[in-house]
Amino acid sequence: MAISHDRSTAEASLDEKTTLLSGQDFWSTKSVKQAGIPSLVLSDGPHGVRRQHRDADNLGLYDSEPATCFPPAVALASSWDSELVGRVGAALGREARSLGVNVLLGPGVNIKRSPLCGRNFEYFSEDPLLSGVLGAAHVLGVQSQGVGASVKHFAANNQETDRMQISADVDERTLREIYFPAFERIVAQARPATVMCSYNRVNGTYTAESHWLLTQVLRDEWAFDGLVVSDWGAVGDRVAALLAGTDLEMPGTGRGTDADVAAAVRSGELDEAVVDTAVARLRHLAGRVHTDARPPAVDVEAHHRLAREAAADCLVLLKNENRTLPLAPTGRFVVIGEFAAALRYQGGGSSHVNATRVDSPMDELRALLPGAQVDFAQGYDITGRSEAALLREEAVALAAESATAVLVVGLREADESEGFDREHLFLPPDQIELIRAVARVAPRTAVVLLNGGVVSLEDWHDDVDAVVEAWLPGQAGGGALADVLTGRVNPSGRLAETIPLRLQDTPPFLNFPGEQGHVRYGEGVMVGYRYYETADVPVRHPFGHGLSYTTFDQTDFQVAANSPDTATARVTVINTGDRYGKHVVQIYVAAPRRPVSSPALELRAFTKVALAPGESTTVEITLDRRAFAYWDIDRDDWTVTPGQYQVHLADNAHDVVATAVLDLPGDRLVRPLTLDSPIRDWFGHPRIGPALTSTMLSGLTAEEEAAAADSNAVALRLLSSMAMRQFLGFLPRQIPYELLEKLMEMSTAFPGRSTADCSRAALPRTRRAVP
Ligand code: BGC
Repeated sequence: MAISHDRSTAEASLDEKTTLLSGQDFWSTKSVKQAGIPSLVLSDGPHGVRRQHRDADNLGLYDSEPATCFPPAVALASSWDSELVGRVGAALGREARSLGVNVLLGPGVNIKRSPLCGRNFEYFSEDPLLSGVLGAAHVLGVQSQGVGASVKHFAANNQETDRMQISADVDERTLREIYFPAFERIVAQARPATVMCSYNRVNGTYTAESHWLLTQVLRDEWAFDGLVVSDWGAVGDRVAALLAGTDLEMPGTGRGTDADVAAAVRSGELDEAVVDTAVARLRHLAGRVHTDARPPAVDVEAHHRLAREAAADCLVLLKNENRTLPLAPTGRFVVIGEFAAALRYQGGGSSHVNATRVDSPMDELRALLPGAQVDFAQGYDITGRSEAALLREEAVALAAESATAVLVVGLREADESEGFDREHLFLPPDQIELIRAVARVAPRTAVVLLNGGVVSLEDWHDDVDAVVEAWLPGQAGGGALADVLTGRVNPSGRLAETIPLRLQDTPPFLNFPGEQGHVRYGEGVMVGYRYYETADVPVRHPFGHGLSYTTFDQTDFQVAANSPDTATARVTVINTGDRYGKHVVQIYVAAPRRPVSSPALELRAFTKVALAPGESTTVEITLDRRAFAYWDIDRDDWTVTPGQYQVHLADNAHDVVATAVLDLPGDRLVRPLTLDSPIRDWFGHPRIGPALTSTMLSGLTAEEEAAAADSNAVALRLLSSMAMRQFLGFLPRQIPYELLEKLMEMSTAFPGRSTADCSRAALPRTRRAVP
C-alpha cells in the first residue's frame, strides 16, 4: 500500500497529533488518516523476527510466528565479516517484511563492559570499532529490504541489574571513545530509520529524557535524521521525553500520556512545534518503509542454509593440539552432552525466536561421517534430575573405547538472559567434572562450548586437546558444528571479546553492577583488551584470537601517511597450508605519549580474506583520522597528538606480527598562557620557558647558576601544578609584570602543550605467558 500524504501535519488537530506519538498496543503505532500516517508494526529483534500478535506478551515467554533464528550477535561478531552480517541483515529484512513488520528492533550494539552482563549474547563486542562496522552492515542489510532498523539501546546500557533505574556514571571521554562510536558509525554509514533509547540513566538523567544525548549528540552532532523510539516502557515523564528528543513512546501504555502532552501544549509548557517535529519524523519513517498489502513470501530453506553458513563462520577454534580436529572420516567417536542432541542456540528474553526448525549436532555429525561409528552419551542433565554420576560413568565408558570424545557443554538458558546478570563465569559443576573424567580416559578430547556470555576454561582447559567456542549459534548451529568438526568448513571465527583467566581480572570487577542506583565506570576507556594489554594482565585467550585448519603468512607490511593524520596500511596474506581458509587481518594503533591515559593499543581496522591453498592477496586498509585521535575534554573535540604512532599488524590483541612507525603532524594546540596556567606550562613552553628561565637566572654568576640548576629542577617538580599567579608570591625576586604580559602575548602566537602528559602507552609491554 502506498502511503498517502493527502493532509499535512498542520491540518491534524493537536489531539490527533499527540495520539500518534505513543503505541496503539505492544507492537504497533496508531494511524491517523487525517495526518496521512498509517499504523506501523515494530517487532524484535536482532537475530530473528519475533512477530507477536496483540494478545501475546512482551517477554518472549509465548510463541511468536515461526521465523529463522540466525546466530545471535555474540556469534555473528566472531565472524568479523561485515559482508556476511549484511547478508544475514537482508534475510532478516525479508522475513520481517513477509511477516508484516515495518521496523525490526535491532541490532543491539552496546559494549560488553563485563562478561557478566546477562544480555551479552545480544551484543557484538567489547570493541567499539568491531561493534560499529558489523552493526552498520546489519542495518544496511535490513533496510535494503524496505524495513527500518532500530539501533539499540542508546546509551551505556551495559548491564541488566537494575536496568530500569541504574545510572551509568561515565566520563565524557569514555562515552565518546567506547560507548558511543558504534552508534555514531551506524548513524553515519547506514542511516538507521530509528534509534532506541535505553532504560537506564546516564550520569543521573534517564536517556529518554536526555536532551544532550538524543538531540545535541545524536541529531546535532551526528546528523541522525530518523525517529527516536523509547525502549518498551522507558518513558516516565512523557513531556520531558519529547522535549529531550524521544519521538515515540512504546508500547501504548493506556496511561493517558497523550493527554499529558496535549495539556502541556495548551498550558504553554511545551511548544506545539516539538509535537509537530516528532509527528513529521513518524511520517518520514512511514515513508521510508514498505507497508505491503500482500507481503512477499520468503524461502525458508534458503534462510536456514544461510543461518548454517553464518554459524559455521562464527565458530572460534580456541585450541587444537595433537591434530584432534578435524575428525577423521572413519573410526569410532563418541559425542557427549545433552546439548548435542538438543542444541542450546539462543538466549532468553525479548529476542527469543520461534525457530522454523532446529538442527541437532548429533544428527548432522552422523550425516557427515557415514564411514564412522558415532556413539552418543547424554553426559549431564540440565534439569539436574538424573543422577550425575551415572550419566558420567556411561559417558566415560564410551569415551575409553573411542578414538576421540567430543563433549558438547554450555550454559542453560536459565543461566543467562535479558533481565538479570550472571554472578560467575563457571560452567555447571557436573559438566566440569564430566569434562575432566572423560579427558582422563579418551585418547583425544574436544570440547564444544555453547554459551551466550564468556565462560571460564580454567578448571579443565589443560586436560583437553581441542576447544571450539560455538557461542549461541542459532537454529542451524548443529549443522554448522558438524561442518567445522569434520572439516567441511575450515573455522575462521575470531574472538570478539577476551576470555579472561578470572572474573577478578576483568576491568569493572570492583564496580559492577554498582550500588544504590549508580554504577561507576571507573575503568574509563580501559575496557576489555584495552585494559588487559595496558595493565599487562594475562588472559586465557586474547581478543581477536582464533585458529584455523590451515596456516597463513603475512608479509610486506607497510604503512604510509596520507593527508594530515590519515594513513594506508598494506599487507600481503598467503595461505601456506593445504586447505581453503579465511583469515582476519587485524590492525591496531598505539599512540605516543599524550595528555590522557591511553590504552596500549586499539583495534583501528580489520578485514577478512578468503584464500585457496598457496593463494595470496594484498590487502589495503585506510586508517582515518579517528584511528589516531582521542576525545579531548578541554577542546571538546577529537584530537590527534603530534608524534610517532606505532601501527601493529597483529594476530590478536596480544600477539603482534609486525609494526610500522608513523610520524603524524597532529593538532598543534594553541593554548595561550595566562596567570592561571600552571608553572609547568610556563617553563615547559618551547619558547616562553627558556625566556622565563633566563630572566630568573639573570644577574647570577656561572657558579650560582649551576648551583641553582639542581634545586630549581626539584622545586619545579614540587610546584609544577601551581598557577603562575600563586608562584609569583613564592619568589625571592619579583618578575616584572610587563615582562609576564609580554610573554603571555607571545604565547598566543607560539603553540605549546599545556596538559600534563600521563600516557601509559609508553610503559614497556612485556609478554607474560599464561601458565
Ligand atoms: C528490550 C528491547 C526490546 C523491547 C521490545 C525491551 O524490554 O529491552 O530490546 O526491543 O523490550 O520487546
